[in-house]
This record gives sequence, C-alpha cells and structure tokens, in this order.
Amino acid sequence: MARSWFLLLPFGLIVLLGSVAQAAVVEHTFNVGNLSISLCNKTARIITAVNGQLPGPTIEAREGDTVVVHLINTSPYNMTIHWHGIFQRGTPWADGPDMVTQCPVQPGANYTYRFNVIGQEGTLWWHAHISFLRATVYGALILRPRGGAKGYPFPKPHGEKTVILAEWWNDNIYDLERKAFREASTLRPADAYTINGKPGDSYNCSDANQTYKFQVRHNEKYLLRIINAALNTPLFFKVANHSFTVVGADASYTTPYETDVVVIAPGQTVDALMVASATVGRYYMAVSPYDSANLPNPTFSETNGTAVVEYVGYTGDEQPQLPPRTEYNDTDTAFRFLSNLTALVLPGKPTVPLSIDTRMFVTVGLGVSDCQPEQLQCNRSTTHFSASMNNASFVLPSTVSMLQAHYRNKSAGVYTRDFPDRPPVIFDYTSNVSDNGTMQYTTKSTKVKTLCYNETVEMVLQNTHLIAKESHPMHLHGFNFFVLAQGFGNYNETTATPQFNLVNPQERNTIAVPTGGWAVIRFVANNPGMWFMHCHFDAHLSIGLAMVFEVKDGPTEEASVPPPPEDLPHC
Ligand code: C2O
Repeated sequence: MARSWFLLLPFGLIVLLGSVAQAAVVEHTFNVGNLSISLCNKTARIITAVNGQLPGPTIEAREGDTVVVHLINTSPYNMTIHWHGIFQRGTPWADGPDMVTQCPVQPGANYTYRFNVIGQEGTLWWHAHISFLRATVYGALILRPRGGAKGYPFPKPHGEKTVILAEWWNDNIYDLERKAFREASTLRPADAYTINGKPGDSYNCSDANQTYKFQVRHNEKYLLRIINAALNTPLFFKVANHSFTVVGADASYTTPYETDVVVIAPGQTVDALMVASATVGRYYMAVSPYDSANLPNPTFSETNGTAVVEYVGYTGDEQPQLPPRTEYNDTDTAFRFLSNLTALVLPGKPTVPLSIDTRMFVTVGLGVSDCQPEQLQCNRSTTHFSASMNNASFVLPSTVSMLQAHYRNKSAGVYTRDFPDRPPVIFDYTSNVSDNGTMQYTTKSTKVKTLCYNETVEMVLQNTHLIAKESHPMHLHGFNFFVLAQGFGNYNETTATPQFNLVNPQERNTIAVPTGGWAVIRFVANNPGMWFMHCHFDAHLSIGLAMVFEVKDGPTEEASVPPPPEDLPHC
C-alpha cells in the first residue's frame, strides 16, 4: 500500500497530523481468514492468510510514524500477530506472542495493534505468533528514514524489491502442529521453499504462475529486502551472475559487506544492494537450505526455491542459469557471512554497553522430557524430544497472559522468577560424547529472568550437542542486542574476551548461534514488560526452547507498563 493512508483517516486525525510535522499514522486492516490456493499440487487447498494474500500485505512506514493494524479474525483458529523486531517501547501489549503479552484473538473477534516506530530503519516483518500459523500468516514491515529513501546512509538505489523466503507444506499446518504435539513427534520437512509465496519451477510446477519474477533494468542498483520467514530452515540466498553489498540486517545498518551469497536464519532480515550488471537476460534467484545439524536423515527439504530476475528489454527464451549451489552443510560459508557483519556506526545511535550489571551463561539445545498431560497420543513409557535453555523447558501459561499477570502483580500460578543464570551442571557442552552419556533430562516450567529497568545484561549463548548440535536462531523480543563475539566449541572466557568487538559490533534481534558453538550478546533492559526470547525454529519453540525476560518499571510513567488497551482479548 502506497502512502495513501490519508485517504483512510478520519478528518480529526488529519488535523492532528498537520500539527505534528512528518509523523504519520499508517493504518491497515488485516482480515485473517481462509484462502483457497493451489501451489504445485493441482488441487486447491485452504490456508490461513491475511486479506487473501500470500505473503500478506506489506506495511511501509517511516521512522517516527505510528502503525495501527486492526486484526479481524475470520479464520477458524485463535490468532495473534507479532511485529518482529519492533521494540514496542511503551506499547508492550502490542507485541503479540500468544500468552506472553496477550491472550489470543478468538475466531470472530478483533484486536487493534498500535505502536510507534522509534529509532528503527530497515527491514522487519510481521507474523502470526501462535501455533505454526506463521507458515502462511506473514508479511514485510518496511521502515524508511523520516525523510524517505534519501535518508539512507548509502546512495539511493534505483529501486527496491522485497524478497520474502518461506517454507510451504501441502497440508494444513495447524493440523500438522497438533498431530506433532499430541504424539510428541516432529514436524516433517517442508514440501517447498518459496520466494514471495511462489516455489519456482524446480518442483515440477509447469505453470509459469508459480515462479515469482523480478524485473530489473540494466546497470541499475536495487535494494533487496530479504526476509527469512521459514518455519525451521536457515537459507543460502544467491542470484546467478550477481553479487551483493549488504547494508543492513534486522533493521540495523551494517558496514557495507561484499558477498555473492547471503546467509539468513529464520527471523532474520538482510538488506543488500544488487547492481543489475550482468548481460541483459534472465537469471535464477535461488534459496537452498543450510543444515547446521548435518544428520544422516535431514530434517529439511533438499530442494531449491527459485524466482527469476529478468532484465527489461530481454526478448529471448533461454532457460535461466542457476547460481552455483552452496552445499547444505557448508558451515564455513554460513559462519563467514554471519560473523563478518559489523555495524555502521552513526552519530546518535546506541552503542554497546561497556559496564555490565548481570552476566548470564545460558545453554541452548535439545534434550528429553516426559509426555505432557495433554499429549494424549504420546507414548508414556519413553521420554521424548524436548528443548530447553539452561535445562528449563518453557511452556506457555494457559489461563492468563504473562504480561497481564505481571501488570496485576499476580504471577502466582502463571510464572516463577527463577530462570537460572547458569546451567545446573557444567559439562562438555559441544562434544558429541554427551550423545552417549546422560542426556539432559528436562522438566517443563514457565520461568522468567527479572531485570531492573535499565539494567545491562551480557548473555553467553552456548549451544549444546545433546541429541544433535545445531545453529539455533535465538530471537529476543523488545530489544536489539549487540553481538560481541561468536565461535565454535565450548565458550572460554579467557580466550573469548580479547575478541570482543566493542567498537562496531553488529546489532540484531536474532542471532544464529554457531552450530556446536557460542555467541556473546549484550543489551540494555530499557523497555519494561515481558519479553520473549526463543529459538526462531517453530519446531524448537514449541518444545520449550524459550524463556522470558520480565523487565520492571522505571521511575517515570513513560518508563512503566501502561494499562492494557480496552480491546485486549480475554482468554
Ligand atoms: Cu519472530 Cu517471537 O518471533
């Protein structure tokens, strides 16, 4: 939707806007309902989608704007929407994760999300934050500088293209999730990877409608806003005969970084400039999986999702070229890309905190646990896959959201304040010896870590090799964090500290912790509320790879959780 918002606004608001120079209200209505669609498989299927679109509508705002989205739930499922990467400072009730900041919007009900975009520019996205429904309920959230594209810290490109990568199942994703939960089994791999909702023609989809096409003009420069909306798969992204200059990630500007492959984990975004400097023709854009676990039975689909980049004026009909495929287990390429990004230091931007109030060392990974009472088809004589942080396997409360319990000062029976700062036992986290030894047995709980307003936190995220090692994309709501260092093996403070980047560390909301390795992040708890931190693989979030930060109110009203909006859904 172009910036035609003023057409939709009541007169009173227009008057108000006239007095607040530049800041606008960007208003959308999201009708979440059934969409009949056929992708590859010949028979149409019903999916859950916003306004009958896959991907859903793009929200475009400028720094300083207010975004208002009216969610109307006409789907048969409970629904919530999360604005992934938005700080939600002062608007914690609009964050969206089911049972963390709100009860779900029930079928037939509505809720209005209202938040300001402050101090953020670049590419973010929005998605359902309940069950696995984000598989089809997702879209882009584009934040431009106050003055528009001329405010970019790089020469204004000729054009911009949104590139949303996702996974597609030829089945009802809600039913797949319920089945996996009841049986305590795992979700099967996706049937296809998609680019802007289309799989491309490597899946025997003869229909040209199934391939997304980008049009470019020779020698013009494009800003690609790449979003990984896939449920469970980090991806390699390439365009044949083209290379990229990365200028942003997770809506934070980066030092320009040259590469011919972009590596992007679920939850992350990458802004990259691409010059259409190849011979006038057609080229494949392709995504392929990065499998950091590298197990004999891959938990991903080893296919390519493709789109076509077509130059204006090309009249031939040759088959486009595919870019050279990155091996699915190419951890070197993934690490090189993900660890080489640095922030573009700009005046007035927050810098990494140098004095630390709270230090946490948190193991992240898989484990086992008993069936939960509601898992009726779960075999009770054995233990099942589970996931945890510091051996605490997170479950959502069921009666009231955590933010409501926090606001009313009634945490009893909803959550406990004992999320540990260290793992319960120290072991060789990353050697696969632990596969044969005692697997870490975890129990389900709803533990939070309570922080004072403005407390500075350093967190070492240590992946484990229990059951399998894997690169977990850890996402923090409500904040960006700085990534000071990352590496492989067990974290060693003595050797790691001298490697800390305290000058221009990348700022992100989602970090792909290296497989069998660690990462050190820092953030300032300057945002009161209840903030989810979790693995952005839905397959791991649903089995407990999560925790919540409870950030207490500060001294002023602005630094306190406001009363809930009147239409906040009830459980
Ligand atoms: Cu993009 Cu809690 O998620």
